[in-house]
Amino acid sequence: MNLWDKLAGIFGREEEMPQGIADHVLLAYPVMIELIQKSFPIMKHVRVLDFGCGNGRLCKKLHAVGCRVTGLDTSEEMIRTAGKGLPSGVNLVAGPIEKIEKEKFDVIISSLVFQFIREIDVTIRQLDRLLKPTGLFVLSAFNPPFVSNLLKEKMTFRDFDSREFPRVGTMALAESDSVPVFIREPEEYSNFFVERGYKKLLEAYPPFTEEYLEKHPVPFPVQDPEFLILGFQKN
Ligand SMILES: C[S@@+](CC[C@H](N)C(=O)[O-])C[C@H]1O[C@@H](n2cnc3c(N)ncnc32)[C@H](O)[C@@H]1O
Repeated sequence: MNLWDKLAGIFGREEEMPQGIADHVLLAYPVMIELIQKSFPIMKHVRVLDFGCGNGRLCKKLHAVGCRVTGLDTSEEMIRTAGKGLPSGVNLVAGPIEKIEKEKFDVIISSLVFQFIREIDVTIRQLDRLLKPTGLFVLSAFNPPFVSNLLKEKMTFRDFDSREFPRVGTMALAESDSVPVFIREPEEYSNFFVERGYKKLLEAYPPFTEEYLEKHPVPFPVQDPEFLILGFQKN
């Protein structure tokens, strides 16, 4: 069983906003979607692949702004849960990237997935084949200083090689489960894309705002933004 299968339920239903979800939905998604809107004036022609779509929250938002969305995830249970809450126009694929053979996309978007992949070189190469020329690649991942702060407080992250400059460790997910995590500096991600001829369009760190924290208080340190968001344009 894929470990993420077990977590499909804890991500909650659309009308709920469980702690641990609100942050990426309310802080990171808008920045990622705004970059797509800036790059493509007419959204209804934009084909988007949401790589590692989980239970489909981002797919739903992309569909709502007019995109033609495909969500892919290796967890069958995540895809099953996504299928229950998404409009029928959203195409869902359970399995590895190779399952998509012919379709090409204007945008590949990926929220909090690359940090769970050890060999991103292989993954980026596979996704690059599915992206049209001049297409957009947008990703979010944990911001290294945020992880460092939580390690100092002994929260969420464990078994890291360093607390100051964390790179490889684990992250607690459910009660007794944890997954390997690979924390990368923005330059490390950027190099993979720039080497393939992509142009960097965005490096953003959406902060925890007072307004956000009032509605969604969090138990962890918030002096550093949680997410790093990067956007690249293919040649
Ligand atoms: C933290 S969840 C994020 C889900 C979703 N993107 C979101 O923003 O809510 C990570 C997701 O990545 C998926 N995943 C992990 N490795 C993957 C891979 N190699 N290919 C596709 N999906 C993957 C997991 O199954 C899980 O659904």
